[in-house]
Amino acid sequence: MTTNAAPHPTTLNLEVIRASFPSLGLLVNDAPAVYFDNPGGTQVAQQCLDAIMRYLTTANANTYGAYLTSERTVAMLDETHAAVADLLNAADAREIVFGPNMTTLTFALSRAIGRTLRPGDELVVTALDHDANIAPWLALQEERGAVVHVANFDPATCTLDMADLRAQITERTKVVAVGYASNAVGTINDVATATRWAHEVGALAFVDAVQYAPHGPIDVQELGCDFLACSAYKFFGPHLGVLYGRLPLLESLPAYKVRPATDDPPGKWETGTQNHECLAGLLGTLEYLAALGHDHGAAHASEFAGMTGRRLALHTALAAIQMYERMLAARLLDGLRTLPGVHIYGLTAPADLPRRVPTVALTVDGHSPRALAAALGERGIFAWDGNYYALAVMERLGLEATGGALRLGMAHYNTPDEVERVVDALRAIVAQ
Ligand SMILES: Cc1ncc(COP(=O)(O)O)c(C=O)c1O
Repeated sequence: MTTNAAPHPTTLNLEVIRASFPSLGLLVNDAPAVYFDNPGGTQVAQQCLDAIMRYLTTANANTYGAYLTSERTVAMLDETHAAVADLLNAADAREIVFGPNMTTLTFALSRAIGRTLRPGDELVVTALDHDANIAPWLALQEERGAVVHVANFDPATCTLDMADLRAQITERTKVVAVGYASNAVGTINDVATATRWAHEVGALAFVDAVQYAPHGPIDVQELGCDFLACSAYKFFGPHLGVLYGRLPLLESLPAYKVRPATDDPPGKWETGTQNHECLAGLLGTLEYLAALGHDHGAAHASEFAGMTGRRLALHTALAAIQMYERMLAARLLDGLRTLPGVHIYGLTAPADLPRRVPTVALTVDGHSPRALAAALGERGIFAWDGNYYALAVMERLGLEATGGALRLGMAHYNTPDEVERVVDALRAIVAQ
């Protein structure tokens, strides 16, 4: 097949991008900090900080009062719902629910779904998931007599065993809960197929997109999923959770709510007073990402037919980020492979880069993950160790009893120079 489309650039204007993130200027022992802890949480852009300050100084109030700041608050909340609908390509801003974090939103949803279940109804989760997409469904086993099945993954590649997933889904299945990308080993799962299989038996499809959202464009309409959750603080926003739900489901499911609160989504699901300043900050984050799309996304516009304005800009931004990060991931994997005694968990072949996000779990013979993370930390390199709540992953890989793995997780503001610095630091640590 021939195409006239321009090749996708794998570079971003890192000078401009990094200048947008004040925290990247942090020094540790006189060396610039290297943030490779992004799967645990990302840094925020100046637009986010400005929006928080602006909200708190010009619009700080509760909702639906008959005065200026309250009206401004309602307008900001409406706009933030609309902007996140653009980010996820949701059909309606009422399909976007905010909450403190993904875990809390998922428990709220699972408990509401639980009210509709009968003993013996089945739920399917996967061993490749963060516990926030397992425990809320397991709770229904205890509370509602539901039966939870766990689909396995192949420890050699850390890819989901799709045949096993298919086999776990039966006529009794009511929910299939799958992660979009692993927070431990970076694997991207075929959530569209999982969604289709769920729908074939009349089950609901829930996608945990926490680790995919910072790394690629999300289209809930194309995926066809019923629910999708993510966390703003993992995609350059403040500490907040986001839940997308198909409108008829958000309308019909029995959410836990106080009586005077609205019966309509999203308010029906947004219990209590929301974190207004952080929601204002999230709008600032999406302004930053849309600007990135305007600056870098042109080559990707044809991939998002039918989208315009902010929606298109956000999607092209994430597509540009995805291409750039594949280059970063390739460099990191190449560098890590040269270290003595290293074991990398998950997909590593260049051809597999489109099937992973730039999150790499590794161990090094003779060095505990904690000791490696601490030695990196002394050098100003921030990286996680342990299981990062991907408990089932570490158990299946046989690493849980030995401190899990070191996790190096990049974002679009990281640079090839930083990759080199991290690999050199690890080489020096391992040689000691
Ligand atoms: C894949 C995945 N799902 C869910 C969560 C939980 O997110 P939150 O902290 O917003 O509850 C995380 C957090 O690390 C995660 O990585």
